[in-house]
This record gives sequence, C-alpha cells and structure tokens, in this order.
Amino acid sequence: MSKYKIAWLPGDGIGKETMEAAKIVLDKLKFNAEYIHGDIGWEFWKKEGNALPKRTTEMMKKTDAGLFGAITSKPKQEAEKELDPALKGKGYEYYSPIVQMRQEFDLHTNLRPCKAYPGNPLNYKEGIDLVIFRENTEGMYCGVEFYPIPEKVFDVLDRHHPKMKKFRDKGIENIAMSMRIMTKQSCTRIVKNAFEYAKKYDRRSVTVVDKPNVLRETGGLIIRTARRVAQDYPDIELRETNIDAQCMWLIKNPTDYEILVAENLFGDILSDLSAQLVGGLGFACAGNIGDGYAVFEPTHGSAPKYTGQNKANPIASILASKMMLDWLGETEKAKILEDAVAEVIKEGKCRTYDMGGNNTTQEMAGVIAEKI
Ligand code: NAI
Ligand code: MG
Repeated sequence: MSKYKIAWLPGDGIGKETMEAAKIVLDKLKFNAEYIHGDIGWEFWKKEGNALPKRTTEMMKKTDAGLFGAITSKPKQEAEKELDPALKGKGYEYYSPIVQMRQEFDLHTNLRPCKAYPGNPLNYKEGIDLVIFRENTEGMYCGVEFYPIPEKVFDVLDRHHPKMKKFRDKGIENIAMSMRIMTKQSCTRIVKNAFEYAKKYDRRSVTVVDKPNVLRETGGLIIRTARRVAQDYPDIELRETNIDAQCMWLIKNPTDYEILVAENLFGDILSDLSAQLVGGLGFACAGNIGDGYAVFEPTHGSAPKYTGQNKANPIASILASKMMLDWLGETEKAKILEDAVAEVIKEGKCRTYDMGGNNTTQEMAGVIAEKI
C-alpha cells in the first residue's frame, strides 16, 4: 500500500503538461504515493457550472495533500457565454477553484519561496533567498464587496464614520466598495507561522509589510500583533516596513530580506514581484497551507499561448512538488529533488524557452530526473 494519497489536479492548459513533468521526477524519487485524479478547471465550469465539482473536494478530503497545475478563468460575461446552454440562466456563477479550495480547506497560509538558483540566467541578482507568508483568507480579498452599495449599508456607515459624507454627495449608485477585513486571530496565525519557519530554518529576521500609517486600523492590528508574537522569539529580529517602500527595496536590496509577512493583497503583490526577481513564472511555486491539509502549485496560469507545445518550463511545478515533500515530512527526498533542480540550472545545458533555450517541458523533467 502507498504511504501517501495525493490529490492530482492538473487543471487546464500548460498545467497538464507541467504536472506530467512533475510526475516524472516524483516517480524517479520513488515517492511512495497513490495519485488520485481530480476534475478541476474551465472544462467543468462549461459542462457543470462549477470549476471545482463537489466530487473533487470530497476526493481531496481523503488525501494527504494536493498538487495542482493551473486553471483558465475568464471575466464574468465571457464565463456566462461559454456555459452549457442547458445551464444558462440557472444562477450559476463562476468562482475561482483556487479560492474555493482555500476556503473549503481553510488553507490560511500562502507560502511562497523565492530563491535565485545560481546560474539561472533570469536571476535579477544572485543570492536572493526570500520566503513570503501571505495571509490567504481575509484582508483585501476577503470577498465582502458592494456595487451598488445597498442604501441601508451606506446609511449605517454614514452614521458611524464622518468620511462617508463626501461619498453620499457623489450619489450612492456610483459607489463601489471592497472591504479589507482582518482579524486578530488570522494576523496572529500568519505572523506566528512566519516566526516558526524562521526558527526552523535558522533565519534571522521576519519583516511585516503593511501600511499602518494610512490603513491605521487594519495595518495597526497586524503590526501590533506582530510585535506581540515577536516577543516569543527573542533571537529573531522583527522588522516593519510599508508596502510601497518594500517594493522599492526589493528591487534595490533584495538580498537584505529573508521572510516577508503580509495580508492577502499586499502579499499577492510581494509574491509576484519577488517571483520575477528569481526567474518569473517558470520558477514560482506556492503552498496553500492549512492546519491539516495543503495544496501546492506553480503560480502560473494555463498559458493558452503555449498550451500543447511542450514548451512551458516545468521547474515551477517541480519545485511545488518539492514543497509538498517537505510539508509531508519527506525532507530527504525534498532535498534530493531541490539539489537536482539546482544542478541542472547551474549546468545551464538544458533550458526552456523562457531561459533562452529551446528544450522542451519533457526534456527538462528528464534531465532533472537523471540527476536524482
Ligand atoms: P499565465 O501565467 O498563464 O501566463 C502568462 C505568460 O507567462 C505566458 O504567456 C508565458 O509567457 C509565461 N509563462 C507562464 N507559465 C510559464 C511556464 N511554466 N514556463 C514558461 N513561461 C511561462 O497568465 P495569463 O496569460 O495572464 O493567464 C492565462 C490564463 O490562466 C487565464 O485564464 C488566467 O485567468 C489563468 N490564470 C490562472 C492561474 C492559476 O491557475 N493559478 C494564475 C494566473 C492566471
Ligand atoms: Mg497573484
């Protein structure tokens, strides 16, 4: 019997190809797992009105972790247009399967390592080794939004906040509102996770990134929480920075930072910026981590432009598999895999198009597997 059950969720477009590549290296590692395929992605939105059918989440509940490729998603009107005619007008609405997974399994922590592997021609600078902890369930992406804003909601806010008046003058029907909601619990959890990681991997500092001088309540909450949490880790320095300045400093001095913590939107921005510092979408991977379950993914999308061409860089998906191995406690296999990736990058003989070469997805996976 296999030691692990893994939910295998290739999804759409190049997700299918890069996951196939990841499978090559996992097999070479003799990772003792049963992979259970799960339906996910655009095809299922079109056919069933749900990009993450219930049978998939039910299956996932019986597994130890999930590995996810990529999905296609489209704006509201286009999504409705492509829906099976039999389902149209029946109240189906497109929800991102990634967001659905995060909510259903309470995958509260988005972990994004960004490492400049020596020899990668796409490195912005050598020596970058950052890890981002992005809060995954609340903040600016908590999903509480209004357009138009119901009059009752406006009235309540107007009664409780002097700044609302100027908006009433513009006409309630012209107002769109998205709320940034943060809780003490989630702030504590994400900061604590970051400090625990720093302790485990011997990092010296944790930088909390927000904008508390402007976003005084939510920003203030995460900063105060961080200061409290930091007291339990006297050997690790807590740094506090503003999101705008932090983006600038990541370009100027990217090697000055080890661990960054932020709420959902700011963490999203930091993650993409940092990913590009170390090679971009072909290298960027993430873990969506909850208390007892986690889903790992390359962060790129389905890249329709390259679908079916065996061209996409599989390293992001391969590194996502490495993260999964670490999370499962298979640290030895994770290390072997990362070393193999690092060696292939350093040698520079096998390179996909994004690295300036013309090797295929499958070839890259094969060469990495050879090093294992
Ligand atoms: P994308 O990430 O699919 O691709 C953008 C560009 O990045 C590609 O055209 C390609 O030049 C490059 N790229 C991406 N992955 C690569 C890889 N592995 N190797 C080499 N180059 C790579 O983003 P795009 O084009 O904005 O979106 C395409 C579809 O994917 C959309 O439907 C979008 O909604 C969806 N999407 C899904 C995500 C996910 O599943 N996590 C994330 C981002 C977009
Ligand atoms: Mg993003």
